[in-house]
Amino acid sequence: MCNIIVLKGDITVYPADIIVNAANSSLLGGGGVDGAIHRKGGAAILDECQKIRARQGGCYAGNAVITTAGLLPAKYVIHAVGPRWNDGTKGEAELLQQTYQRCLHLAVEHNARSMSFPNISTGTYQFPKELAAQIASDTIFAFFEDNQSIETINIVCYEQDNYDIYQAIIKRREI
Ligand code: APR
Repeated sequence: MCNIIVLKGDITVYPADIIVNAANSSLLGGGGVDGAIHRKGGAAILDECQKIRARQGGCYAGNAVITTAGLLPAKYVIHAVGPRWNDGTKGEAELLQQTYQRCLHLAVEHNARSMSFPNISTGTYQFPKELAAQIASDTIFAFFEDNQSIETINIVCYEQDNYDIYQAIIKRREI
């Protein structure tokens, strides 16, 4: 049975086996949660991202790669590349679902018991928040019908509106 916990604030302060980053295809860092993770995790994370880039040339939207967590309170960081919102007709919903699925599979492969997700694509990539939360929670709940090895998933919302959206979704599920 997996516990899904909605938290508020900075994802880098919550201990978990895996912290998920909302990265971009370059894997070289950026602003938002990506900036916070690289800043607080230290140079070891970028170093490993550069090695992955040298091997595979970055990471496309819908996919993710895993590195050390450096100085963060975690064993690994999964760098997930969510879709940039266009007008909703470019496969954005499917790509966001794939992004979450890929993270969950990678976490299981690395024997994670706990992981923290940010609200992937809802900042710079401008994915509508309500739709993103529905896709994220549906994907996580569906995953746990077949796989129970992860015990705790934190959904860490930096913004109040995302926090309220997730609280409402979880409440509806519990009824
Ligand atoms: N902890 C948790 N969530 C955070 C943090 C943080 N420290 N900082 C920002 N967020 C939230 C944002 O408020 C937003 O809800 O993370 C969500 C995702 O926003 P972005 O970080 O902008 O990520 P995304 O929309 O997926 O865009 C990815 O942004 O910074 C760049 O390199 C990144 O180019 C990539 C793009």
